[in-house]
Amino acid sequence: MGSGLAGLRAAVEVARNNSEADIAIVSKVQLMRAHSVCAEGGTAAVMQSDQGDSLELHAWDTIRGADFLCDQDVVMRFVEEMPKEILLLEHWGIPWSRRPDGRIDQRPFGGHSYNRATFAADKTGFFEMQTLYDTLQKHTNVSRYDECYVSSILIKDNVFCGVTVWDLTSGEFFLVQGKALIIAAGGACRMFGFTTYSLTATGDGVAMAYRAGLPIKDLEFVQFHPTGLVPSGILITEAARGEGGHLLNNKGERFMEKYASTKMELAPRDIIARSEITEIEEGRGFPEPHGLDYVHIDLRHLGADTINERLPLIREVAIKFNFIDPIYEPIPIRPAAHYTMGGIHTDIDGATPVEGIWVAGEAGCESLHGANRLGSNSTAECLVWGKTTGAKAASHISKQRALPPAPKEAALKDEEAQVFDRFSSTGKESSYALRKELQKTMDSQVGVYRTGPDLEAALNRIKELKQLVPNIQVKDHGRIYNTDLLSALESDNLLDLAEIVVAGALARTESRGAHSRRDFPQRDDVNWLKHTLAYYTPEGPRLDYIPVNITMWQPVERKY
Ligand code: FUM
Repeated sequence: MGSGLAGLRAAVEVARNNSEADIAIVSKVQLMRAHSVCAEGGTAAVMQSDQGDSLELHAWDTIRGADFLCDQDVVMRFVEEMPKEILLLEHWGIPWSRRPDGRIDQRPFGGHSYNRATFAADKTGFFEMQTLYDTLQKHTNVSRYDECYVSSILIKDNVFCGVTVWDLTSGEFFLVQGKALIIAAGGACRMFGFTTYSLTATGDGVAMAYRAGLPIKDLEFVQFHPTGLVPSGILITEAARGEGGHLLNNKGERFMEKYASTKMELAPRDIIARSEITEIEEGRGFPEPHGLDYVHIDLRHLGADTINERLPLIREVAIKFNFIDPIYEPIPIRPAAHYTMGGIHTDIDGATPVEGIWVAGEAGCESLHGANRLGSNSTAECLVWGKTTGAKAASHISKQRALPPAPKEAALKDEEAQVFDRFSSTGKESSYALRKELQKTMDSQVGVYRTGPDLEAALNRIKELKQLVPNIQVKDHGRIYNTDLLSALESDNLLDLAEIVVAGALARTESRGAHSRRDFPQRDDVNWLKHTLAYYTPEGPRLDYIPVNITMWQPVERKY
């Protein structure tokens, strides 16, 4: 489920491992429209051990960046696998940017001690997707179900049975039976208004898994990327700072000097996002008519050649969306919701507690990123856990002799009615207005800084909005490209996930990584060095907690 980087890497791995497998890629969008094509700056891996870098150092940077909430065995697996993935993509034809001597180039990224972000200009995700798509063409046992919305995950006696699918192009509704499911359907930051996400990234896979009974882990940790273009939210890649860009306040000061004097603009994202908000709140930002006050990222000193060669997308975006050419002018930016550190709970192999279901990429939480992900570790995670889950699923299906039993016809009819008859044209609520209200709530009360009263108010508002869902009006009665209905279903998904974010954040009375409580400003390892698990109940999420796996590195104070 899902055709982004994790989904494609998983499909390739199943096909490589099991030529008998019958693989379906089911995706709400056309294959090359998945949000992964928006990934810009790079993919982390240790490729310069000759310069002093090491797997242990990559692991340590990731663990410290995560504010110690990641599982350290998972981090070690990740850093060991990544260099192999970079070379594999190279062999599959990706045009990595090169050093003058022809070797693969790498650029600095926030929180990393060495240059580890392997890149293809500032269109890394696009080229990774293109390479995996090309590679997939070698395999004849893969079918594509583009523009097909999965409406539910079917599980019986804790065993995966299949998914129900609405084909947006034909209007058909059908069952895809299977022995294994890999959920790779992305994160849910479209619950925020100011975000780097594509409009389509609405956390559908996570919401469906939640309703099917799977636990959701650590969803209160939401990453705000320091450089969202104002006012659209489009990503201005961290590579702009990796290449030497400066963050400036309205006095022209490089304000990161005050907050992270060693790492400056290459401190981890949570620290920079908080610094920007502090500058703005203390009057050193620039006003914006809709409340999106901002600071600047300044690339002018990099010169036209560097900008054109290494940041061409950023220049194009700034010119097309803001009429600003970064060769001559600074770019207005502020923190934008960018990534959900949490997701569907899995073990180190991406396996869920349900037999036959794995998760890869942002939809899952194998506990790599903890409370704050380092930039360039996400596309990398998609590759490693795409590969891992693909290999595990391939081996699982070769051991299972028969498909799990198909659900009864009546159950499928019920699900079909649940999709097409749930909303009526006489409803009084607009799903667009509901989503907007949710986004306003999340932006204003569940942002970079949080407080108990704000979170309580947000939770109450989300519960009120959820009550309105059954009364959503869907005017279009058709089944083909019914975007009105799709919007209603997506909004419902976002509301469920927002409730988990806020409930987890309200309960967590500490500050750790991207979860920063003004009323509890300290990290509290005694009480909160633990993962949150949220379980679905009709009244709202039930929270539980499990320990963090610490192997080599004991938590220490986090300073940059
Ligand atoms: O800034 C960026 O290019 C984003 C990278 C990431 O989220 O890892």
